[in-house]
Amino acid sequence: MITLITNIKELLQVRDSKTAKISGSEMKILPTIKNAYLILKDDLIFGFGKMTDLPKINADKNINAKDKIVLPAWCDSHTHIVYAGNRDGEFVDRINGLSYEEIAKKGGGILNSAKKLKETSEVELFFQASQRIKEIMQLGTGAVEIKSGYGLNIESELKMLKVIKKLDNNFPIEIKATFLGAHAFPAKYKNDKQAYVNLICDKMIPAVAEEDLAEFIDVFCETGYFSVEQTEQILKAGKEFNLIPKIHVNQFNSIGGVEIGVKYNALSVDHLEVLNINDLEALKKSNTIPVALPSCSYFLSIPYTPAREIIDNGLPLALASDFNPGSTPSGNMNFVVATACIKMKMTPEEAINAATINGAYAMGISKTHGSITKGKKANIIITKNIPSYNFIPYAFGSNLIDKVIINGEEI
Ligand code: NIG
Ligand code: FE
Repeated sequence: MITLITNIKELLQVRDSKTAKISGSEMKILPTIKNAYLILKDDLIFGFGKMTDLPKINADKNINAKDKIVLPAWCDSHTHIVYAGNRDGEFVDRINGLSYEEIAKKGGGILNSAKKLKETSEVELFFQASQRIKEIMQLGTGAVEIKSGYGLNIESELKMLKVIKKLDNNFPIEIKATFLGAHAFPAKYKNDKQAYVNLICDKMIPAVAEEDLAEFIDVFCETGYFSVEQTEQILKAGKEFNLIPKIHVNQFNSIGGVEIGVKYNALSVDHLEVLNINDLEALKKSNTIPVALPSCSYFLSIPYTPAREIIDNGLPLALASDFNPGSTPSGNMNFVVATACIKMKMTPEEAINAATINGAYAMGISKTHGSITKGKKANIIITKNIPSYNFIPYAFGSNLIDKVIINGEEI
C-alpha cells in the first residue's frame, strides 16, 4: 500500500539514517523541507523531497497537506501507563496543602496504586491501559516505553509486564517494557528494606528475564526510596540478565544516582529536576541521555529540569510524558513540548528534537523511529492548517493534529 502526501507546507525532522541523537547547540537545528512530498510504502517511509522533484507514482491513497505541517510521531520514552484506577483524591489532598512526599509517607502514592493494582485482574488492567494507549495515539505518539512498578511483588510485577506485552501485541505503536520493581518499598518491608532489594535481585529479575518480559530496568533512586547503594545492587543484578538501566533520579534530591546510572551505562537518566555540577560532569563522559518530564513538574509544582544548563553544556536532552496516576496523569506529548518551551526555555526546534529523535534514542529505537528518514517506520503527524511549526508549542491548549499515521495507516 502506497500513500502519497503532497503540498506539505513544511516537512520536519528530515535526517539521514546515521543520526542517533542530537546534542548541545545542534539541538537548535531542525532540518526541514518546505513545499514537500512524502511517500509511505506499507509500514515504512519510502521517499520524500521537494514538490518540484515529485516523481511519477501510482499511489493507493493521496493526501493533500496544503498549509499543513508533517512531522515524525512523538517518541515518549518514559511512562507508567499500566495502572489501576486513579489517584484523584491525592490530587485534592495536594491542593489542600499536603506534598507528594507527605502523601507517600502516609501510605498513599505509589503504595496506593499498588494496592489497587493487586485487586485488579489482568483483563481489566489491559482494558484500562488500552484506553490510555488509544488516547496517546490520537495525540500523536507513535512509540512509548511503559514501566511496571505498581506490583511490588513477583506476581503483580509479572502481571503488569504481561499486560505491557499484550498491549505491544495488540496496538500498532512500538512499545518497550521496563521492569521497575524498585519503585517503592512495600509496607511489609518497612523495617527490612534490604530484604526487598534482595527479593528484586534474587527472584524478580530472574523471573522477568526468564519470561523475556522487559528490555530495561529502572530504580527510583531517591531519598526515602532506593539509596544509591541499593540502586547499584539492583542495576548490577539486572546487568547479569542484560537488562539495560533507565532510571528515575534527582527528582527531589541529587544523591549520586546519576553517577551510578552512568557507571552502569544507563540508556537514560530521567527526571533531573535537581541537578548539580557532578551530575553534569558525569553525563558529559557518557552515552546516557538525560530525560526531562515537564508535565510532572507542572502537575506537582516542583522545579523544572534545567534544560538550558543541560543543553548549553553540550549534552543531549529528551522529553517524555511520565504518564502515571500520581505525578502526571497525562500522556499528551504536545503539552510536554509546549511546557518545555514555555517553562524550560527550550526553543521549538530543541523541544521537537527532544520529543522525536532523542526520545527514540532514550528507548533504544532511533534506528527505526524519531525522524523522517528513508526506511524508518511510517509514523507521522499531519497538523491542521497552521502558520508555522512554532504554533505547536505556542498554541499550547489547542489540538493542532489533523491526522496521525502509524505504520503507514491512518488511525
Ligand atoms: O516518575 N517518581 C517516581 N515515579 C513516578 C510517580 C509514580 C506515582 O506517583 O505513582 C514518577 O513521577
Ligand atoms: Fe516516572
